[in-house]
Amino acid sequence: MDTSIHAVAEILRSSAVVACLTGAGVSAESGVPTFRDAQTGLWARYDPQRLASPQGFAADPGLVWRWYMARLAGVEKATPNPGHLALAEMERHWPGFALITQNVDDLHERAGNTNIIHLHGSIARFHCQRCGTLHNLQAAERTAPQPPRCATCGGNVRPSVVWFGETLPQSSLTAAVNAVSACDALLVVGTSGLVYPAAELPLIAKRAGSRVIEINPEPGPLSALADVTLRGRSGALLPQLLGIGD
Ligand code: OAD
Repeated sequence: MDTSIHAVAEILRSSAVVACLTGAGVSAESGVPTFRDAQTGLWARYDPQRLASPQGFAADPGLVWRWYMARLAGVEKATPNPGHLALAEMERHWPGFALITQNVDDLHERAGNTNIIHLHGSIARFHCQRCGTLHNLQAAERTAPQPPRCATCGGNVRPSVVWFGETLPQSSLTAAVNAVSACDALLVVGTSGLVYPAAELPLIAKRAGSRVIEINPEPGPLSALADVTLRGRSGALLPQLLGIGD
C-alpha cells in the first residue's frame, strides 16, 4: 500500500457517514466511453451541441435518436466492473452510503447499490419533448431512423437524460446536496469535475466539514480541493479500499 492508500484508509476508518460522487470514468472499465478523455471520449468524436442539447434534437431528431439508441445498446451489453462492485460493498459497510452519479447507465444498480441519486437522468427512460408524457420503449423503436411519437400529443419522444442547457431534476439535486452536506468523507470517482452543478458537490462537502477523496488517473479541477488523491483506475483502486475500512 502506498502513502495515499494509508491516508484514505485513515479517513474512511474515522468516518461514520460516507458518500460517493461518480462520473463516466467509473464505467470506463466496463467499456462505456467517457465524454472528455482524449481520443476515446465521446465529445472528442461527436458534437455535444448537435447530440446533447434541445436545439440539436429540434434540428435533427433522427440523428439524436439513433445516437442514443446506439449508446443504450452499448450500456445494455456492458456489465459492472470491480469498481462498481466495490461501491456496492461500501453501501453494505456504511449504512446510508449515498451514491450520487452523473452517469445515465444503470451499472451502479446492477452492481447492487440501492441508495442512488441520478443527477443526469437515465438513458433507458423516455419522455415526450413537448408534453413530458412518459414513453415505454418498444423493440422496433430501437432501430427506427426517427424517434417515436408521443401517444398523447404526437411530439417527439426523447431519452430522459439531462442535456446541455437543461436543469437537473430538482429532487435529485436536493438529495445530492443533502447527502454531501451530511457525510464525513466524500469519494469523488471518475469525473472530470467540469460540469456544473455536479462539480460543485465536492466543494459543498468540503465546506460542510467533510473530507474529500479523489480517485482518477488524471488530475483535474477538483484535485486541488481533495484532501487526498489516488491516481489510477477506479476498477483497481476501489476494491483495494474495501479491506481497509474495517
Ligand atoms: P468526463 O468524460 O468529463 O470525465 C471522465 C473522467 O474519468 C476523467 O477525469 C478521466 O480522467 C476519468 N477516468 C477515465 N478512466 C477512468 C478509470 N478507469 N477510473 C477512474 N477514472 C477514470 O465524464 P464526467 O465527469 O462524468 O453529461 O462528465 C460529466 C458530464 O458531462 C456527464 O454526465 C455528461 C457529460 O456531458 C450529460 O450527459 C448531461
